[in-house]
Amino acid sequence: MERTRRFGHPGMVVWFTGLSGAGKTTLATQFERILFDQGRAAYLLDGDILRTGLCQDLGFSIIDRRENVRRAGEVARVLADTGFIVLAAFISPFALERDQIRAKMPPGRFVEVYVNTPVETCEQRDVKGLYRKARANLIPDFTGISSPYEPPVDPELKFRTDQESIEQCLIRLQEFIENRLRAGR
Ligand code: ADX
Repeated sequence: MERTRRFGHPGMVVWFTGLSGAGKTTLATQFERILFDQGRAAYLLDGDILRTGLCQDLGFSIIDRRENVRRAGEVARVLADTGFIVLAAFISPFALERDQIRAKMPPGRFVEVYVNTPVETCEQRDVKGLYRKARANLIPDFTGISSPYEPPVDPELKFRTDQESIEQCLIRLQEFIENRLRAGR
């Protein structure tokens, strides 16, 4: 409560899930900038970054991904408890772990954002060249190609980045989060 008063908003977790190259990090990074410029306490927690440190012992098997997402969720939860708006960008391919994080958060403080970009589009973009490698069997267990992705059943927000501009997505995101922050103040 005191932390909420100090920051002017409650802590929460905004969880971006979707395929590699769907636009999770792009959206979360730009949203972090917007919140930061508004004077909010916001922090981007990104899969690629966590995997170089806290989760460097983990690979991409189903078991390792479950553990990766569990750890990410715990870090996000701690940061949200300190009052931060945590923007978590992880493929997080399985509904179970995403739901487990939600269940541990106070009601309304977990917002699931499904960055729903079709695999064909992600593959065309292939920003990191990983889809090409996955198709050439150089990367095993690649999400969307040789490893499954379970779409969220009832996410708070859904974005089709192949149909909506980043600006449009950010406006919708901002509006939704603004309402949630106000409700929890
Ligand atoms: S998760 O599945 O465990 O949630 P996470 O979001 O941490 O994944 O990491 C995904 C990032 O790891 C991708 O954006 C990509 O850069 C890289 N990566 C490397 N190998 C794989 C793979 N087999 N499947 C998916 N992403 C991979």
